Amino acid sequence: IRIAVLGLGHIGLPTALGLAELGWEVTGADDDQAKVALLQEGRAPFYEPGIAELLSKHLASGRFHPTGDVETAIRSAAVLFLCVGTPQRTSGEADLTQIETLARSIARNLNGYKLIIEKSTVPVVTARWIKRTIHRYARLGSAGEAAEEKPDASAPEGAQGDARFDVASNPEFLQEGKALQNFFRPDRLVCGVESERARAILEEIYRPLHCPLLVTDLNTAELIKHAANAFLATKISFINMVANLCEAVQADVTQVARGIGLDPRIGPEFLRAGLGYGGYCLPKDLRAFLHLAEEQRVDFSLLQEVERINQQRVPHLLKKVREALWVLQRKKIGLLGLAFKPGTDDIREAPSIEIIEGLLQEGAQLQLWDPQAMPNMQRRFPEENGRLHYCSSAYEAARGAQALLLVTEWDEFRHLDLLRLRSLMEVPVLVDGRNLYDPEVVQKAGFEYLSVGR
Ligand code: UGA
Repeated sequence: IRIAVLGLGHIGLPTALGLAELGWEVTGADDDQAKVALLQEGRAPFYEPGIAELLSKHLASGRFHPTGDVETAIRSAAVLFLCVGTPQRTSGEADLTQIETLARSIARNLNGYKLIIEKSTVPVVTARWIKRTIHRYARLGSAGEAAEEKPDASAPEGAQGDARFDVASNPEFLQEGKALQNFFRPDRLVCGVESERARAILEEIYRPLHCPLLVTDLNTAELIKHAANAFLATKISFINMVANLCEAVQADVTQVARGIGLDPRIGPEFLRAGLGYGGYCLPKDLRAFLHLAEEQRVDFSLLQEVERINQQRVPHLLKKVREALWVLQRKKIGLLGLAFKPGTDDIREAPSIEIIEGLLQEGAQLQLWDPQAMPNMQRRFPEENGRLHYCSSAYEAARGAQALLLVTEWDEFRHLDLLRLRSLMEVPVLVDGRNLYDPEVVQKAGFEYLSVGR
């Protein structure tokens, strides 16, 4: 089976390299020529553990071919994974422009049977739109546009497949920072299919992975992805509200999380209280899911509440900082961590952005450090004398500071020499937004320590 992965971002690149590692011949196509040039030189366009190594391995093995020619990639393969971005419109709904553009390219290049697999997170009925778009443009050529109605989530599909192509939904559950680990050891694979042929191909591709394969219809598979991300966001907002309650009554949220997480019906994951969920997926997918519910006139206001709680996390942290330092004007504050989570250089919807904005507004002088995300943050907030300084280590971020804020729980921060850190600071206040440290240890090292929900 010849595979093309269309779109080489945080989902597409790990998927393409993972498939190459499973033994498949994979063409990876992206219309960002600069990104493709980097990949062809063996350089990863973003930081993700293990990606650089796998990239050199499969450029050398010849099983991964990066190209900027999307149309040729489509013609060269029988299986197409759609991994392009589905960003958010101002209304909250997903912007499917890139998916639609790909569907039209596929229609123009339908040179034999193709299985078209949605990997990007898309709202329910996107697969139907893809099918209709391909039918329309493959048939039309230059004959002009035929009127098509909007696919309706509740209506049964009229046309029973097409011998020339199938569309399948195989949503991705990769987490940034663990993408390859998730690819090779998935909890489950969800395959929404409409034909035996599509199902057989997906089973064949993933055969080496030995994990539960859930085969569903297209709408169900699409819904599973949004429901999963919305549920994860709900867990995080839930524990964050419990953290607020713990702060009010002097209880310990980490213990509460352990206490409830040991119940297998609840589970221990995604119960870390802190600065809320950020990144490119959870915030945007929750809004898209909510938008979809509204469109279908289903009252899912629970999710509005989840989002509202999430939006209070940074203001809540800033309040703690103010309570510890009183006036922030001209105070030096060190920030440890800028990425939205450890293991990535991604700063999209990272709490650090709002923290930086909030502290700058109050006149604080910031000293920032992150092991991977500084170049991305520098593009957003350039170095500014006396206001914003990018450091070369966590220790430099602590030098002369009146407070240190732990924003991203990178592993390297677990192993910092706390006594050294303290001796560098003017006032040893440590505000831990992720509950990374043991309060007793930090207090013994001489810090005034504030954390979340304990
Ligand atoms: C998320 C999902 O976890 C993946 O399964 C999914 O494939 C992906 O979105 C996607 O849709 O592509 P990701 O955005 O990479 O993955 O990051 P997560 O590990 O889910 O973390 C999201 C945010 O939640 C981070 O800001 C993290 O700090 C926060 N978080 C996570 C908490 O605040 N508490 C927790 O207990 C867990």
